[in-house]
Amino acid sequence: MKKALITGISGQDGSYLTELLLSEGYQVHGMIRRSSTFNTGRIDHIYRDPHNGEKAKMRLHYGDLASSDSLQNVISAVEPDEIYNLAAQSHVRVSFDMPEYTGDVTGLGTLRLLEAIRRTGGNVRFYQASTSELFGSASPPQSETTPFEPQSPYAVAKAYAHWITNNYRDGYGIFASSGILFNHESPRRGETFVTRKITRAVAAILAGRQKHLYMGNLDSKRDWGYAPEYVEVMWRLLQHDEPADLVIGTGEAHTVREFLEEAFGYVGLDYQEYVRIDPQYFRPTEVDYLLAEASKARDLLGWEPKIRFKDLVRIMMDADLELQGLESPGEGKCLLAERFDGWHRWEDQVVSMDK
Ligand code: NAP
Ligand code: GDD
Repeated sequence: MKKALITGISGQDGSYLTELLLSEGYQVHGMIRRSSTFNTGRIDHIYRDPHNGEKAKMRLHYGDLASSDSLQNVISAVEPDEIYNLAAQSHVRVSFDMPEYTGDVTGLGTLRLLEAIRRTGGNVRFYQASTSELFGSASPPQSETTPFEPQSPYAVAKAYAHWITNNYRDGYGIFASSGILFNHESPRRGETFVTRKITRAVAAILAGRQKHLYMGNLDSKRDWGYAPEYVEVMWRLLQHDEPADLVIGTGEAHTVREFLEEAFGYVGLDYQEYVRIDPQYFRPTEVDYLLAEASKARDLLGWEPKIRFKDLVRIMMDADLELQGLESPGEGKCLLAERFDGWHRWEDQVVSMDK
């Protein structure tokens, strides 16, 4: 049985990758940070396999990308065949508030992990979660040959992580591959990323728990895909004969405004009645236009995304409507009759922590 170690297992991608690897027969080990409250909400359902009632083949270990000894300890204890480095301070806006921390965890953290691999000398395969943010202000479409023009402390930290991964591949012969993934979303997406912020808000507005949605730049364009399809590429990349760097995206870009139109429109609302602009959500430097040219992934791995923009919005909307106890309009139900109930009971949600 193969063993995989996932850093960032409690995040969106970590949770989907765990499910995939378990279904492929792996024993999965995940690194989590110590927290004063539970931080495993996305993977709690995996502890127990519903099909046979036995414990799933997943184990969690405490560790942190900021701490070399914890990485060394986890790798020595697990002796993994594959390591997926998904952990990061992954929020671009937050990286402007915490540039040093982001550089330490997202950038140097990758070096610490690679050093631990080099020192233990095992024959491990390593996946680095690189990002389309590396391209920054480079003209779209962006492919593996597009020069990096990072535009945030997060992107600069990821550029360091990307290049140090290449350096350890070239210098020490480590089987290390980087997936340069464009934005990918799901019902498990963190609540402060723009897609989830929108779908949550639309559902809360319908439920009468929120009145307005405060947003930043509506004109930036992103190539949004569906996270479960993207974690499959991570795994397939490590099964390939040779290590490689690979761009993953749908090849279709939309503005944040279009996402708003689609999400509000899905439940029959006009976003302009609810959305307000708040300057706190603008970034000192913005990435205007990300669009993947992912033909190498198609040629190398035969990978093609199936879920497109409208389906993605629908999947996320349906999940957030369900969380609010509302039914999907996709089943022909009328949601609008009750949408104003309760507004008087709620003021706008606290937005200060909402990036
Ligand atoms: P996410 O939901 O924000 O998850 C990040 C994970 O990293 C969480 O498990 C988090 O733990 C963990 N983490 C944060 N700081 C850590 C530290 N110091 N030590 C150990 N673990 C730490 O991110 P995601 O969307 O799943 O993305 C996964 C990776 O892909 C990230 O590296 C991200 O930068 C990159 N990426 C994401 C996208 C995208 O569109 N989603 C696109 C390209 C690249 P807690 O749960 O304790 O916070
Ligand atoms: N988060 C957020 N909140 N973004 C907003 C808002 C808002 O209220 N209003 C407008 N936006 C705009 C941002 O300025 C940005 O142009 C766009 O929406 C997308 O923002 P995010 O969803 O925060 O994602 P991101 O593109 O900055 O970064 C994500 O994708 C990267 C891959 O390209 C993250 O997942 C990164 O970790 C990942 O590397």
